[in-house]
Amino acid sequence: MQQLWSDIDAYIESTLIPEDPILIQTLKNTEDKGFPDHLAVAANQGMLLQMLIQMNQCKRVLELGTFAAYSTMWLARALPEDGYILTIEGRDTHAALGQENIDRAGLPQHIELQVGRAADILKALPTDVEPFDFIFIDADKQNYPEYLELCLKYARSGTIIFLDNVIRAGDIINPENVKPSIEGIREMYRLMQNHPRLLSSTALQTVGSKGHDGFAMAIVK
Ligand code: DHB
Ligand code: MG
Repeated sequence: MQQLWSDIDAYIESTLIPEDPILIQTLKNTEDKGFPDHLAVAANQGMLLQMLIQMNQCKRVLELGTFAAYSTMWLARALPEDGYILTIEGRDTHAALGQENIDRAGLPQHIELQVGRAADILKALPTDVEPFDFIFIDADKQNYPEYLELCLKYARSGTIIFLDNVIRAGDIINPENVKPSIEGIREMYRLMQNHPRLLSSTALQTVGSKGHDGFAMAIVK
């Protein structure tokens, strides 16, 4: 089925996703530098992120897990020129690539990349920092529960939290899979269930060029 899913993603991309030289350049530079592209979001998912931001007229975005900053570009494209993104990357090699792609893009929005463990960087943010309107959690899956709790400190009523890779080809319901990344995602579901700070939460499974995976989404109460 993978070939069909990829072909359909290519069809959707060729019909509905406008060609954007900055996004193309970002993917090309990532490939040229020898980084795998399976970590990046698919273009049609990038567009979904962009549309959620546009629908909610968000101005301040927090992203955990920059990698090549491809998703960061999609987030930035949705923002007004005075928009702000704080994007956090834990791996030095990924951060260097992400920063290079951000610099090359030359977008008007203020995109700040911080390198380090996301939990440490979040804990070090001033507690009176203006809340974020949209939060994209896409860093190491093992720490999703901690990231969700920490992100809630910097959210307001109505903030949207979007978490990537919460299906993992069904591994989340395979009891034999006890990898820390999978256990982290399971704990995230438990945490989202009846969380006092969340108004509503869901998850959707997706198939496409990135295989069988999915995302969760929550609105802050
Ligand atoms: C992986 C991480 C991601 O964020 C993603 O979108 C796909 C794969 C990974 O670590 O394998
Ligand atoms: Mg991801």
